[in-house]
Amino acid sequence: MSVKVLFVCLGNICRSPISQGVFEDVLRREGLEGEVEVDSAGTGSYHIGDVPDARATKSAAGRGIKLGSQRARQLALEDCDRFDYILVMDRQNYEAAAATCRGKRAELRLFMEYAPDLPDTEVPDPYFGGDGGFERAMDLAEAASEGLVEDIRRQHLGQRV
Ligand code: 4NP
Repeated sequence: MSVKVLFVCLGNICRSPISQGVFEDVLRREGLEGEVEVDSAGTGSYHIGDVPDARATKSAAGRGIKLGSQRARQLALEDCDRFDYILVMDRQNYEAAAATCRGKRAELRLFMEYAPDLPDTEVPDPYFGGDGGFERAMDLAEAASEGLVEDIRRQHLGQRV
C-alpha cells in the first residue's frame, strides 16, 4: 500500500501544484515514485477545474518540472481519511483544512515543518505578486520535499536515513 501525500493551498493553482510537481520530481530522483501517491487541493473553490497559474508552470518548467496535467480541485472530507499526510502552505489554510478534517486520520502539518533548517514556516501566497514569489515557492518546496522524503522513508518505509 502506497503512502499518500496531499498538498493544500488556497486556490490549488500556484503553491500546491508547485509542491506536487517538485515532490514528484524528488520521488523520481530517489526511486520512490511507486511507493508514494501525490495529489493537491485548495481550501477555496475559486479555481476548480483550472490548470495551474501560467507563472507557476513557467517557474516549474525552468527546473525541468511539468505541471500541465494538474487540475484544481477543492479539499473534500474524504481526503481527510484517504491521505497519510495533508501538508498545508500557510496558517490560514491550515485553519481551513483543520476545520474540514477535524478528528480525521490524516497527519495535518505546515509543509515547511519538513525544512526545519530554514526560518520560513509558511510558503507565502505568490498570486498577487511578481515572478519572484513563484521562484521562492519552488525553492521552499524543494527544501521541504527533501525533509518529507526522509520522514516517509523513516515512518512508512522502515528505512534508516
Ligand atoms: P495558491 O494561490 O493558493 O497558491 O493557489 C492563489 C490562487 C488564487 C487566489 C489566491 C491564491 N485567488 O484569490 O484567486
